[in-house]
Amino acid sequence: MHCIKHITDDLLWVGANDRRLALFEGVYSLPEGVSYNSFLLLDKETVLFDTVDKAVQERFMENLEHALAGRPLDYLVLQHLEPDHSASIAAVLARYPGVTLILSKKAADFLAQFYNLSSITQIMIVKESDTLCTGKHTLRFIMAPMVHWPEVMVTYDTESRTLFSADAFGSFGALNGAIFADEVNFNRDYLDEARRYYTNIVGKYGAQVQSLLQKASELEIDMICPIHGFVWRKDLHEILDPHMLWSSYKPEEQGVMIAFASMYGNTENAAEILACRLRDKGIKTAMFDVSLKPASDIVSAAFKWSHLVLASPTHSGDIFSTMDALIHDLVAHNIQNRTIAIIENGSWAPTSGKLMREKLEQCKEMRFVGSVSLKSSVKPDKLAELNALADTLADTFKNM
Ligand code: FEO
Repeated sequence: MHCIKHITDDLLWVGANDRRLALFEGVYSLPEGVSYNSFLLLDKETVLFDTVDKAVQERFMENLEHALAGRPLDYLVLQHLEPDHSASIAAVLARYPGVTLILSKKAADFLAQFYNLSSITQIMIVKESDTLCTGKHTLRFIMAPMVHWPEVMVTYDTESRTLFSADAFGSFGALNGAIFADEVNFNRDYLDEARRYYTNIVGKYGAQVQSLLQKASELEIDMICPIHGFVWRKDLHEILDPHMLWSSYKPEEQGVMIAFASMYGNTENAAEILACRLRDKGIKTAMFDVSLKPASDIVSAAFKWSHLVLASPTHSGDIFSTMDALIHDLVAHNIQNRTIAIIENGSWAPTSGKLMREKLEQCKEMRFVGSVSLKSSVKPDKLAELNALADTLADTFKNM
């Protein structure tokens, strides 16, 4: 049965939720599910913004047919060709063969690469600031390359002052009945998933997100409709401000994120001692076992906290594999501008500290302030070094 939501009198959400997908893009866990948002504008002409993942196509098509109530579909705006938003194009074309596809030049290339859509007869390639009047509404197309793929564009409705923002300002998490962020306690219950979505999906492309934020700042925006997560119609700063921080690689919180790998509990012991001493000094801490916690959560936390401590055994002369994978992810997601300390462990030839530092030095503006090298376990001399490292880290907060 159809399940739609009214956004305004003439704008409807016709998307769908997936609460069973284990890994988004085959890599990011989805404990709260995910929504694929598709919006239908019922103007003099009808316009659909994006489609949905194949897994939820049946519900989406039911929603679309119900919302159109027998009207033809005139336009399908394809803002982003990643398959979680484009996989149902063929179904839409089959049901509404008269529809005109609107997309960027790069998106048209991707359309041909991904699909074999011989039924496309009408296609409209748009470029920066092209407009389309659909009756009461005028849509302006704004290019947003690399937010999150190169073909991405967003759409500004000058009548309703709505920004259809594609992947930008979206979030992991299924919509559980509420469609607007102001219907829930977003900061308490959803900000973590929004950050995890942003940092893992577009975290690498801070400069491009900044560019889109600049373009958005020149528009009068009353509502933001992303292709994942909530629609924003109030307090837009609650989603724009964190994006400003994340995309400029500025920490959200002053405090120390400690990520550790530990084979027999000794490296964890050192990490825990450091966390206790930092808390004794009133400094906030967050701890993650990198062998247990999904990397996407730790990457997200690294974007949140101002200080990072990474602790790893040496294994086969290298960084322990789960820590190595995490650091690869941190570098790949362009983490920068953090204060760093390192704890290494090794029973006969500790090298993980040097290797971790070398990898993290690829990131911009990383300030290394200290390290501790353990031989197997924490002994009194190393306890003193951990206390000293806590003092050093605490001192860095005094200048903030
Ligand atoms: Fe949900 Fe980059 O697509």
